[in-house]
Amino acid sequence: MAHRLSRLRKKGVATLVRETSLCVEDLICPLFVDENLQEPIEIPSLPGFFRHTVKTAVREAGEIADLGLPAVILFGVPQRKDESGTSALSGIVQDTISNVKRFVPGVTVIADVCLCEYTAHGHCGIVNERGEILDSPTLEMLRRVAVSYAKAGVDIVAPSGMIDGMVHAIRTGLDSEGFDRVAIMSYAAKYCSGFYAPFRTAVDSACAFGDRSQHQMDPANANEAIREVGLDISEGADIVLVKPALPYLDVIFRVKQTFGVPVAAYSVSGEYAMLRSAMANGSLERDVIHESLLSIKRAGADMIITYFAKEAAANLRQEVTRR
Ligand code: PBG
Repeated sequence: MAHRLSRLRKKGVATLVRETSLCVEDLICPLFVDENLQEPIEIPSLPGFFRHTVKTAVREAGEIADLGLPAVILFGVPQRKDESGTSALSGIVQDTISNVKRFVPGVTVIADVCLCEYTAHGHCGIVNERGEILDSPTLEMLRRVAVSYAKAGVDIVAPSGMIDGMVHAIRTGLDSEGFDRVAIMSYAAKYCSGFYAPFRTAVDSACAFGDRSQHQMDPANANEAIREVGLDISEGADIVLVKPALPYLDVIFRVKQTFGVPVAAYSVSGEYAMLRSAMANGSLERDVIHESLLSIKRAGADMIITYFAKEAAANLRQEVTRR
């Protein structure tokens, strides 16, 4: 038979022809820090995931580094929230950045830049009385937050609010303060998704009124994602991110094919919750973790933010020793 593809599926041959690989170095682990805590607490909506104090976050970053994971992405929960999110300018995230860089220098620190965890109303920016985001004061705040993270020693800032012009505002802000080596990972194609629900309970950032559809993307649109990504690249994004991941593999694929720049995918809290609960009730086995992460890489992502990072890293290591 001229063509019999099963010849390539034999043990020892299959690994030679394997097209995609998933390795520990591809994974980024989210890390939540909460200014209100004395002790870490488990996040009920994200079983197995904790909100940390600065001290336990440093310990956690150490464990993450020991597993061979290259990076963490930080999210903060402040003590105080107000109309314009001023507590984003100094507090637990800046503290955590400097402590992790000091005690676990090998781990790359990414910090999410958004106001929704810091505003009393939960919107991603400064809003008027109708709940509409006001671009210029919001961009000014995002620029200042990014600079404060850079001063604390962050490696990459990750603006996640989908505010028009945010990458330009942050790039010029960083450069004017001498932080031209700090990279920007922009949440360039972020959809207005129901899959963020567990995260919003995790950081207590649900909107008090209205929703995020004025700035996050309509799940029906893919051409628009290409336009969004193109704009962010032209404004200076070093890495572009697509979010969520599994329901948007086509978008990841198109972004990679179109631009060929580094692409990150955020496999969000709802994707984690879905698999976690199906594994807990016995309807799925743990092998779906690897399969779903691999599918995100196959679509074209270079790196994946995932709540399975530690578990996947431990599994990948075991596999290497078994071989
Ligand atoms: C906004 C932000 C969100 C997530 C990461 N950054 C939530 C949102 O837009 O409501 C979601 C992450 C997840 O669901 O895992 N700062």
